[in-house]
This record gives sequence, C-alpha cells and structure tokens, in this order.
Amino acid sequence: MVVAEIPELTLAAGYFFRLGAEGKRTCPTVILLMASAITMNMPGSIVGSKNELRERYMCVAEITEMIHISSLIHDDVLDDANTRRGMESLNFVMGKKLAVLAGDFLLSRAFCTAAVSLDNTEVVLLLATAVNNLVTGEFMQTTITPAQRCSMDYYLQKTYYKTAALISNSCKAVAVLAGQTAEVATLAYQYGRHLGIAYQLIDDILDFTGTSASLGKGSLSDIRQGIVTAPILFAMEEYPQLQEIVEQGFDNPSNVDAALGYLARSQGIERTRLLATEHAKLAADAINALPESKDESVLISRQALKDLTQKLIRRTK
Ligand code: FPP
Ligand code: MG
Ligand code: MG
Repeated sequence: MVVAEIPELTLAAGYFFRLGAEGKRTCPTVILLMASAITMNMPGSIVGSKNELRERYMCVAEITEMIHISSLIHDDVLDDANTRRGMESLNFVMGKKLAVLAGDFLLSRAFCTAAVSLDNTEVVLLLATAVNNLVTGEFMQTTITPAQRCSMDYYLQKTYYKTAALISNSCKAVAVLAGQTAEVATLAYQYGRHLGIAYQLIDDILDFTGTSASLGKGSLSDIRQGIVTAPILFAMEEYPQLQEIVEQGFDNPSNVDAALGYLARSQGIERTRLLATEHAKLAADAINALPESKDESVLISRQALKDLTQKLIRRTK
C-alpha cells in the first residue's frame, strides 16, 4: 500500500512499518476485536460475503494505522523530535522536508485504499473526520491561550481530538461496514472514545510519575514544553495560586519547580487516575450494552476489549 514511484519515498513511507519499528499496534488490534465483537445477527449463510467483510475490516485497521503513522511523522516535524519508538525519527534521518512529504504520501495512500477497497462513503467520511480532528487537536494545542491552558474543558476537548478521535471513528467505521444499527455503531464509537481518553489521562500521569526503575521519575516532557495536563489542572482546583504560574507558562524552569511542588501536595495525580478509571469503566459499559450474543468468538472478543480497558489503566509504560 505504501509503494511509491520513487524508491526513496517508498522507504520513507514504510519507515515505521518495518519489523521492529511497528510499535504496539493498539489501534488495529482494537479495531479487529471490535469487528469480531459486533459480528452478530449477520446474514451468515453467504460465506463469500463474510470473507469480503473481513477483508474490509482489515482494510480499516490498515488505513487507521497509516493515518496514525502519518500523524506521528508530522508531529515529530512540528516538535523537532529526534527520536520516536526508541529509534531515530524520520525527520532526523531524512530531514523535515522529506518527512512532511512522506507523511502526506502515507495519508493519500490511506485514502486511495479507502476509496478503492471500502466502497462506502459513510466509512470514508468517518476516517476523514478522524484526520480533521487530529489536525484540530494539534492546532488547539499550538494556538492555546493562557486562559485556555487553565481550562479542563479545553484540555478534554483537545485530548479527544488528538488521542481518541481516530480510534473512536474507526471503531464506528467497522460497525457501519458491518451494516449494524445506529445504536451499535454509537456503542462502538463510545468504546473508542472512552478508551482513548483513559489512555491519554494515564499517559499524562506517567509523564510525571514514570516508572523507570533507575530514575523513579517521569520525564516531565509535557510541562517542560509548556503543555498543561489533567494532574496540574486538578491541582489548580486545590491551589488557585497555581493558575498564575500556569498562565505565565513554563519557559522559566522555576515555574516548573513551583508547579511540581503544588502537584506533589495535591490530589492531582489521584484525581486524574480516578477520571481515567471512570472513562475505562464507561468504555467497558459500552461493550456490556451491545446486543446479547451467544457466539463464542463474539464473547471472547468482547471480553478482550473489556480486559484492555483494565490493562490500560494499570500500565506503567
Ligand atoms: C502526538 O503528539 C501526536 C498526535 C496524537 C497527533 C498529531 C497530529 C498532527 C501532527 C496533525 C496532522 C495529522 C495527520 C493525520 C497528518 P505528542 O507530541 O503530544 O506526543 P508524542 O510526540 O510524545 O507521541
Ligand atoms: Mg510529539
Ligand atoms: Mg506534538
């Protein structure tokens, strides 16, 4: 899918798909589990059409991964990041200009595949909406004002766009492809939405607490980049003095230290974990609300999706 006319572009586009560079593949795993979890009441007699549907689910998973990788490639250009997934970022290896083009190429390949293989405009629209949301989230982060930086609503909206919109829209996409009811499609969407938000809230905690045995500390990369996340926003509710520091920003390292001091005395981390747990529960509730099924593989997939919500909030890396 990512082969280009020019060998160097093929290499660039395939950079994060190489063996050892492919990441956790959480998105495609969730999408394929969701596909299997909602495969009920299907006109199952026609074997050919079932296989065809399975191929389309695979396509949604592949397209979603391509969108995800293209967003990471562009993100590393925007963030001037030298590393990604423990290896050199694409912009570090081939420069910003070619990395931007490789990200564009991947995105175009994703939508060529969608147009050719999915043959469903509603599904293509869901995937395009996810890209739209990713860009909006990144834009919200880049253009944030001091007042917006202090707002939990703004933070949660940005988090949905940046982290949850891709998985929620692709979970809904498989339900639409399966010809499921609007109710099932909404439950699939809600699962992805709550899972994505819970994932990000835990990510925000890990940035402060980390788990690296040697450091025993997080990398503090968010706050050092001036990005304010849920733990600080909760701490601000307990210590309103923190608002002035957050509004000033974190260019001055003494502001980072002061904010960390307030955070340590507050319930910020615990309240963030509680919020993540609530979202994980809402994700599991969405699975429990799916129409009843006695099919063993449907039940196994549903259990796996629910287990994932627990694994996610317990993760330490
Ligand atoms: C990771 O951000 C980045 C994202 C979740 C999405 C970024 C979106 C864009 C760059 C818009 C363009 C989108 C496409 C599809 C081309 P991070 O910097 O917060 O986290 P990380 O670098 O630590 O992973
Ligand atoms: Mg980044
Ligand atoms: Mg970024």
